[in-house]
Amino acid sequence: MKAIVTGGAGFIGSHIAERLLEEGYSVSIIDNLSTGDKNNIKDIKNKVKFIKGNSSEINKLGKADIVFHAGIYSSTPIYRKDNTLVGKAISEFIAILNYCVKNKCKLVFASSSSIYNGYPPPHNEDVIPKVKDFYTEARYPMERLADLFQQMYGLEYCGLRYFSVYGEREESKKTFANMVSQIIWKGLLDKEVMIYGDGEQRRDLVNVSDVVSANLIASKSKENGIFNVGTGVSYSFNEIIKKVGYAMGKSIKTKNIDNPLKNYVDIVQADTQKSREKLGFSARISADEGIRTALEYYKKLKKVPDIF
Ligand SMILES: NC(=O)c1ccc[n+]([C@@H]2O[C@H](COP(=O)([O-])OP(=O)(O)OC[C@H]3O[C@@H](n4cnc5c(N)ncnc54)[C@H](O)[C@@H]3O)[C@@H](O)[C@H]2O)c1
Repeated sequence: MKAIVTGGAGFIGSHIAERLLEEGYSVSIIDNLSTGDKNNIKDIKNKVKFIKGNSSEINKLGKADIVFHAGIYSSTPIYRKDNTLVGKAISEFIAILNYCVKNKCKLVFASSSSIYNGYPPPHNEDVIPKVKDFYTEARYPMERLADLFQQMYGLEYCGLRYFSVYGEREESKKTFANMVSQIIWKGLLDKEVMIYGDGEQRRDLVNVSDVVSANLIASKSKENGIFNVGTGVSYSFNEIIKKVGYAMGKSIKTKNIDNPLKNYVDIVQADTQKSREKLGFSARISADEGIRTALEYYKKLKKVPDIF
């Protein structure tokens, strides 16, 4: 089986590529290295085909059996800085959809729990998104288009709404990295973590290893549609800081500042019923275990990002 991973030099994509190799797939990666880094795939560089390019150039990789699409600009501030990226993300996605129809391959793509902004938890796949950000405006049409291609051309697809993904190998994302990584980095550097507001905003932390499992399960499923990839439990930033501090055996320094961001996401917490019952996916790694593993990884780096 040949798999393509767009964004395969990024945080989640590189973990997907690694697992696919372990499962015996032949793997090709296309990544424009905007937030990714070839360092993320240094251990597998001789086993994968890599092309530097935009996801829309997927045809350059030849025919595949399955596409994992993670190669889209991955963070809210990126779209706020350049909102024309919304159109780019959608048109690149249409190129991926056309590729999958032409080559009769299944598509598993990254969507986001930010789509739930403005709704109280637990967040269920059936709600109609309110669209509170440019980032979300890029994601929701992707989901609708995948459904349209399913109706028109029989595309097989799963769109996965990732919750707050954390884990090893997130250093190339720098300021766009998950709060867990940022807190660990600050702790290792013995610097203050900056918190927007009172720290009571909550995130459903899902470990990258569970996210990879969700991708693999979705790729083999007969189901089409949109599925949450979260744990169903959320923690406040204050709680996450305590957990990281406990794992490090020290108290993490913090500084609370006024939240400068409009339409900020206050809480995300997955309703896990649909993905559990239809896909057979359940996250397995607890926040405490995942934080310990991530900490061990970051402790071994020569240098962690010194952001802000
Ligand atoms: N990390 C999370 O918590 C989270 C949550 C929800 C959704 N997601 C989504 O999952 C996907 C992967 O995110 P990540 O956390 O690994 O971030 P990431 O920034 O590490 O990964 C994105 C990768 O895609 C590449 N890329 C970006 N735009 C591209 C384009 N137009 N063409 C080709 N390559 C491109 C980047 O260089 C990077 O390697 C993204 O689509 C992101 O929006 C992530």
